[in-house]
Amino acid sequence: MSKSSSIPTVVITGASAGIGAATARRFAKENYRLVLIARRKDKLENLRKELPNTEIAIFGLDVSSRSAVENAFTQIEKEIGPIDLLINNAGGAFGLDRAQEANLDEWEQCIDVNIKGLIYCTHTVLPHMVKRNRGHIINLGSVAGHYPYPGGNVYCGSKAFAHQFSLNLRADLLGTHLRVSCIEPGLTGGTEFSTVRFRGDETKATRVYEKTEPLQPDDIAEVIYFCASAPPHVNINTIELMPVAQAFSPLAVHRT
Ligand SMILES: NC(=O)c1ccc[n+]([C@@H]2O[C@H](COP(=O)([O-])OP(=O)(O)OC[C@H]3O[C@@H](n4cnc5c(N)ncnc54)[C@H](OP(=O)(O)O)[C@@H]3O)[C@@H](O)[C@H]2O)c1
Repeated sequence: MSKSSSIPTVVITGASAGIGAATARRFAKENYRLVLIARRKDKLENLRKELPNTEIAIFGLDVSSRSAVENAFTQIEKEIGPIDLLINNAGGAFGLDRAQEANLDEWEQCIDVNIKGLIYCTHTVLPHMVKRNRGHIINLGSVAGHYPYPGGNVYCGSKAFAHQFSLNLRADLLGTHLRVSCIEPGLTGGTEFSTVRFRGDETKATRVYEKTEPLQPDDIAEVIYFCASAPPHVNINTIELMPVAQAFSPLAVHRT
């Protein structure tokens, strides 16, 4: 892939499924050059075949590996060119057990991907963006970062981190032209999210979306593109969206 052309480059992590794959398709429509990251390289290859008119580079890597992220982003800068937009989308929830029954390895996995993966990609890309005084980072938060629910524990905490880290980046970047946004969806079907959360149990995963109309990955991709295409002087800090079929419960009270 050449670095000569002036078309913008978007790096999307977690592009092999769900929201990330839909976002890749959305930006392909806008003639972006895509750099797609996920562990399952074969899925990224399929996406590349599906979008033959789009320049696509793929990196099969685990975003929770600091060295793998640093090597990949160095290669991107060197061989593909400046990154205009980084979408930190890779992530997931692992288990829905109450804290007192949770698996510590799954908690760590959640922190490794949702927090460490996000900061590794951000830390690697930021100096280049600041040097060029140009760039946009869009992080995937969640309603889970605002509203606690039983079994959400570390996943909800990791998404609260995405929200607060995004705002704090803006505080640090004041005086530059860089932009940072956090997109915070509610229940989104058409993804592998619940299959991963329930450790491959498709019956449990399917039940999450039964008899309701969740958001779809394309809905989120549209909001991400809206955010990226705002005029350069406009920073969308956060967008929280939910399906109409989702709302809030009252606070819980235990009675004896
Ligand atoms: N679905 C929802 O209801 C919902 C709601 C709010 C927010 N979100 C957030 O939206 C983002 C995308 O989730 P989704 O719903 O689209 O789920 P998904 O279909 O399971 O997609 C997750 C993506 O992340 C990638 N990924 C996971 N671990 C990774 C790792 N260690 N290194 C690199 N890539 C990794 C997966 O690819 P590989 O397995 O190939 O690596 C996959 O492409 C997540 O941050 C999630 O927390 C989802």
